[in-house]
Amino acid sequence: MCGIVGYTGGKDCVDIIIDGLKKLEYRGYDSAGIAFEEDKGIDILKAVGRVDNLEKLVRAGKVKSHCAIAHTRWATHGKPSVLNSHPHCDCKGEVAIVHNGIIENYDELKKELSSKGHKFASETDSEAAAHLIEEELKKQKDFFKAFASAVKKLKGAYALAATYKNAPGVICVAKKQSPLVIGQGKGEYYLASDVPAFLNHTNKAIFLEDGDLAKITCGACEIYNLAGVKQSRKVNVIKWNPATAQKGGYKHFMIKEIFDQPQATKDTISTLPPDIKKAFGITPAAARKIKGLYIVACGTAYHAGLCAKYVIEHFAKLPVEVETASEFKYRSINFQKDWLFIAVSQSGETADTLAALNNAKQAGLKALSICNVVGSTITRASDYTVYTHCGPEISVASTKAFTSQLAVLYSFALNIAKEQGSLAKTAFDKLYKEFKNLPSLIEQTLKDAQQIKKLAKAVYKSNSYIFLGRNAAFPIALEGALKLKEISYLHAEGFAGGEIKHGPIAIIDKGMPVVALAPKGELYEKMLSSCQEVGARGAKLITVTNTPLKGAVEVPYTNEYLFPILAVVPLQLLAYYVSDLRGREIDRPRNLAKSVTVE
Ligand code: M6R
Repeated sequence: MCGIVGYTGGKDCVDIIIDGLKKLEYRGYDSAGIAFEEDKGIDILKAVGRVDNLEKLVRAGKVKSHCAIAHTRWATHGKPSVLNSHPHCDCKGEVAIVHNGIIENYDELKKELSSKGHKFASETDSEAAAHLIEEELKKQKDFFKAFASAVKKLKGAYALAATYKNAPGVICVAKKQSPLVIGQGKGEYYLASDVPAFLNHTNKAIFLEDGDLAKITCGACEIYNLAGVKQSRKVNVIKWNPATAQKGGYKHFMIKEIFDQPQATKDTISTLPPDIKKAFGITPAAARKIKGLYIVACGTAYHAGLCAKYVIEHFAKLPVEVETASEFKYRSINFQKDWLFIAVSQSGETADTLAALNNAKQAGLKALSICNVVGSTITRASDYTVYTHCGPEISVASTKAFTSQLAVLYSFALNIAKEQGSLAKTAFDKLYKEFKNLPSLIEQTLKDAQQIKKLAKAVYKSNSYIFLGRNAAFPIALEGALKLKEISYLHAEGFAGGEIKHGPIAIIDKGMPVVALAPKGELYEKMLSSCQEVGARGAKLITVTNTPLKGAVEVPYTNEYLFPILAVVPLQLLAYYVSDLRGREIDRPRNLAKSVTVE
């Protein structure tokens, strides 16, 4: 996730652009840059870190311009650096582009364009777009037509904006799977990844649709589809209050991030082809030599690892040890040298996880990290890294990072199972197809948010909550409890369904909310028995299942090892709504920090 801003019109737009970038910093903040038109052509300024750093350069350069595009970055391809930050240029510095999304065929494009003599300056996927436009401009002089031909060659997701030295005042844009909205002013147009970037200047917004291309000048915004047919798009009047608009109109970042999950998992899954080398950097030969796995993480990331244990053991038949990093690092482990170490961390900076990873590295193990922050310490200490592509997670309570971590781990489980010969090609293909459909199933699950809100209203006065799950859904019970306790400050505990009769059932009291996860499958009946045991003691049962069951919360049906990724969504919502009804400080719960960098 990155943020794009643009302006063309009669005003000096420097303040507009800087202000817009700051409003979009929630989408990325590892570097920022601006391409602005001035008398001699296009000038570019870039800075690593927050937009404030770019602003200093812009102010020092006394920049003035009436047409500019700019970008605040959340690195996906290539570490945060001046070279990798946007805007990117063609070889002559005449075309400048900013891009949000992932260009999936950039490798092919880069090879093809390099063979034609193009020189690439960055490690990004995005730069290919600038060179493609340059190439198309050799065939025709019209900037918009050349831009459209270049866009047709892109695969993947993009919100793309470009300017060209020989077309002053023109910004060309294209959208597919990444957000892009145009703001309409008087004799001027704005452009942004999200409305708050221009809401102080205009509340008239045109939301582009996938496949749209637009040519924007100060006096007109012409929209076409990829076939060149003119499109008409509604001008919406936005009624949001600029102060809350950064959260996309949501009350808190946490609920916004819960609803971001279809996109976050889609962006993550788009980088995970059914090929262990391409998705994880591990060669098939190396994958076949792996005899077991240590998965180490903290908090929510630990729950993702624990869930992966069930999935990997089931599909790949490999032994998996999962532990919280704060315990793992103090154990005297006789490390198995042919086991792979996996560190899971949203921030990539968690001190306990890093210490555990260093122990494993010192013992000579290879390490794979699954992180959300490009270039973070844990990724630098690892042999292989796979990123979740969630964009910044602002709320302390992790939600979209969790489902994306589960997606990466699920892909890993299937890919390693295939390489180890424990999953036949036909079964693998079927499971992978189902996996790729996950973002739309999450979207479907989110449609029941109102049902969860009603359930929250019925239980929020309780001071104690129990979550039950079995098998791969057991870690989701732990995660549901963690989510609730960290933002509501209420007592919540997760148990394995079969374990409650060994003690915890003693605390079940009349009216105590018990959330039970019961996917259709081998343990469905067993889970229903656990429900009856607690129900008989007066518990207020909330059952989450994937099959019709009276009064239950129903998520879409999938194989039972994908159920956890869907089942956690109602639990996140429940935690959110209970805490909101309790009036808690949801995005910044007391005593907690987003990133725990001390051991
Ligand atoms: O950045 P990390 O994923 O390494 O962080 C690990 C935990 O600190 C984190 O998941 C924490 O438990 C969250 N607050 C959970 O919502």
